[in-house]
Amino acid sequence: MTKTDAQDYAFYHVAPEENNFQQEVIEGLNRQPRCIPPKYFYDQAGSRLFESICEQPEYYPTRTETALLKQYASEIAAVAGNDCHLIEPGSGSCEKVRHLLDALQPSAYVPLDICCGFLEKAAAGIAEDFPWLEVHAVCTDITDEVSLPFIPEQADAVMFYPGSSIGNFDPVDARGFLACLANITGEGGGLLIGVDLKKDPGILDAAYNDANGVTAAFNLNLLRRINRELAGDFDIDTFAHHAFYNSDRGRVEMHLVSEREQTVRVDGHTFEFSAGDSIHTENSYKYTIDEFQALAQQAGFTPCRVWSDREDLFSLHYLRAA
Ligand code: AVJ
Repeated sequence: MTKTDAQDYAFYHVAPEENNFQQEVIEGLNRQPRCIPPKYFYDQAGSRLFESICEQPEYYPTRTETALLKQYASEIAAVAGNDCHLIEPGSGSCEKVRHLLDALQPSAYVPLDICCGFLEKAAAGIAEDFPWLEVHAVCTDITDEVSLPFIPEQADAVMFYPGSSIGNFDPVDARGFLACLANITGEGGGLLIGVDLKKDPGILDAAYNDANGVTAAFNLNLLRRINRELAGDFDIDTFAHHAFYNSDRGRVEMHLVSEREQTVRVDGHTFEFSAGDSIHTENSYKYTIDEFQALAQQAGFTPCRVWSDREDLFSLHYLRAA
């Protein structure tokens, strides 16, 4: 762990295992069906492409959630209370938290992200724009079990987990992850979490197949990353982005589909693809409000408040660790 310090701004590096990418890609490509964990989308280019997805007209989650945060910031502050330690796993650009900080007045903000370069810039921006706020950025893989030694035990911790990132976990793992968050906040701690809602599949299909092709580029960037970092020879032009709502499973699935028979090499390993063979790259689960509250309760949280937009596209839950 390395740390750089400047007044009320600190940057920690809890190095995610450098070899995991190689290992998980090789393992995933050997599995049937083939799959690669979605956390590997987020290198610098992938993080930037994700930012751009969030600005696409078809991708409703970001603007809907942001509107909820703006509209209900003072109600959120009223349930969460002031002076909390606000911890944001997977903080990305740290844009959404900006809508909360003035109302919430936390004593410290702790953004955690797997992409160090991105985190460093984003966290420094918060420290600059909110000079009264203590900022402790931690570069780490939030799906690893992390201890957060710099959070004083007695501090009121509130976790902020927006964007429906919880949708990346299948429901069993989501429950496990939520239980982990309940552990970190400790009894009485809070969780403000954004959860994408079940809805007309047409809206979902459009959101993951934007007309500008940004989601496709985001998905395909995973192959570019493998080529660059793992000496891969994927021919990017022969793989197609495929995203659709699987109503049986209640999730949007993203795949990369080989358009022809071919052999691909990654780090000395060989993989055969037939035309139509897919690599499953992401699940994005959708919940009803009741389904999500039931899941949260199984993980040790008590639902306190829920906010949603008029069209019931997206929900924002405040939960308390029991
Ligand atoms: C960051 C996981 C919430 O599932 O909507 C966006 C990622 N993938 N478009 C989502 C994503 C394709 C996003 N999450």
